Amino acid sequence: MSDKKILPTQNLGGPEQIIDLLKSQLSSVKTTSELENVKTSFLGRKSPINDLMKEIVKYKEASEKKAFGEKMNELKETVTNLIAKKEYDLKEEEYGVELEKWTDVTAFNSKPNKGTVHPITKAIWEIEDIFKRMGFDIELPYEIDSEDNNFTFVNLPPTHPARSSWDTFYTDDHDVPIVHTSSMQNRIYRTKKLPIYTVVPGKCFRNESTDARHEHTFFQIEGVVVDKGITFTDMMGTLQAFFSEYFGKEVQVMLTPDMFPFVEPGGMISVKWEGQSEAIKRITKGTGWLEIMGCGMIHPNVLTMGGIDPEVYSGFAWGGGIERLIMIKHGVEDVRLFKNGGLKFLRQF
Ligand code: PHE
Repeated sequence: MSDKKILPTQNLGGPEQIIDLLKSQLSSVKTTSELENVKTSFLGRKSPINDLMKEIVKYKEASEKKAFGEKMNELKETVTNLIAKKEYDLKEEEYGVELEKWTDVTAFNSKPNKGTVHPITKAIWEIEDIFKRMGFDIELPYEIDSEDNNFTFVNLPPTHPARSSWDTFYTDDHDVPIVHTSSMQNRIYRTKKLPIYTVVPGKCFRNESTDARHEHTFFQIEGVVVDKGITFTDMMGTLQAFFSEYFGKEVQVMLTPDMFPFVEPGGMISVKWEGQSEAIKRITKGTGWLEIMGCGMIHPNVLTMGGIDPEVYSGFAWGGGIERLIMIKHGVEDVRLFKNGGLKFLRQF
């Protein structure tokens, strides 16, 4: 797709030509990340629509300006709808269901006001797409899971302090809303055939005060790889490849030592956030780096508890914050925006 990207200086003519070009590009789109590229070309800052908008200076009369503005809004709406339709088509293909046919019979407005896919859902689609192309399969976590899966089986024994700093509430059966997607690790080790290359995107819940960086309910993308001869450099290569794909460019990545009882050695990966605004500086505490994911080589105890012989197999795991990835990619300056339901924010994606 990349060779088909439209250039900002390319003169594409009026709205009809832009729509024709979009339709022809959409017809060859096969994945959500290809669709993202088309979307950026047509709706991003350097899009042909923005070029066309500049022609507003040609119109002197207020009524002419207004008519031109309306035409441009119509064009934007058509482009947005065509892209949204393609997005649904791709999902329909993937899941084999006809999403378009789901109708809300309680809606009284005769003109349907179609919603947009939530930015987190979209990011999960993009992330899944990247890892699938790298040969990973996908498992979804249980949203409420046992104390053992959340803690004991990832080397956090009953007395470990991380339990009470992370956990929220327990059911009578000692299940807990998952505190991390690592809750799936043991189930994956016990049920999957080796070698394992699996990612787990899912919602997690923490006993957490919220601020611009933290939420009590947030999404993670867990990854587990178990194979013969896996090393730390395999992990760094895999994650670096993921970051380049997700951000669409090379990004600076920093690895610092960190401690998670389920990995040894363990680390924290931070990504450079180029943004210069005061809010971004506050989020990165003035460093320009945002912590994105914990990672490391899976602890031998964790492999053993999963029924895997650590003398034969080795592996790595990571757990990354999905909202934080989106924040860096799209310049979102407060993590709480994802859940407050504000349409002004949501419609920008
Ligand atoms: N589960 C850890 C967390 O939520 C992240 C992590 C996953 C770290 C896997 C290392 C390996 O913070």
